[in-house]
Amino acid sequence: MRPREARRDPYRRLAREQGLRSRAAFKLKELNKSYRIIGPGFKVADLGCAPGGWTQVAVRAAGSRGAVVGVDLAYVEELPGATLVRGDVSDPAICDEILGILGGRADAVICDLSPEVTGNWSVDHARQISLNYDCTRVADAVLSRKGNALFKVFDGPYSAEFRGYVAKKFSRVSLTKPQASRKQSSELYFACLGFLG
Ligand SMILES: C[S@@+](CC[C@H](N)C(=O)[O-])C[C@H]1O[C@@H](n2cnc3c(N)ncnc32)[C@H](O)[C@@H]1O
Repeated sequence: MRPREARRDPYRRLAREQGLRSRAAFKLKELNKSYRIIGPGFKVADLGCAPGGWTQVAVRAAGSRGAVVGVDLAYVEELPGATLVRGDVSDPAICDEILGILGGRADAVICDLSPEVTGNWSVDHARQISLNYDCTRVADAVLSRKGNALFKVFDGPYSAEFRGYVAKKFSRVSLTKPQASRKQSSELYFACLGFLG
């Protein structure tokens, strides 16, 4: 987003006013309202969590009986109600770490990963989808049966194949774009409910 657009962006202003760490927090709020991906008491794994906007929303949605673990390559400042891990979703060891922190399987895995963008759309799209496949491997290892997942997808030629892949793992997969997602952005979200295990 250009500096002028950023200044005019209502979600950016709202995020500042509400003490949320990212405008992306509003996307999760909206998606959770529509799809109930995270409910009270849920154990949640937030993959690609920096700087922590989604994590803040997940902590509120899961409430005091829930548990939230956030994972990112980048350092994330401490956040009340969540455990933060600096790690890579492609590292198989991350799964045991998540299970250990949550004290069992997750009820929801939410994925908002973005690679370092190169500006070459085909490359960025392919890398982002590849990160999502890494996240499905994490979900396979940590998500409980009937659990839910959310994937951000940079839409492009590989999106349909990824949708087909997750459709085999969940009872219901919905493709959606929340209002807080800028129209000119190619990002879409796959809300996946009812993990088949
Ligand atoms: C759009 S940001 C996430 C924003 C976050 N959901 C929020 O609301 O604050 C995408 C994140 O994906 C992380 N990421 C990219 N590749 C990763 C990987 N292999 N493992 C873990 N995190 C990764 C990046 O470091 C970046 O912080």
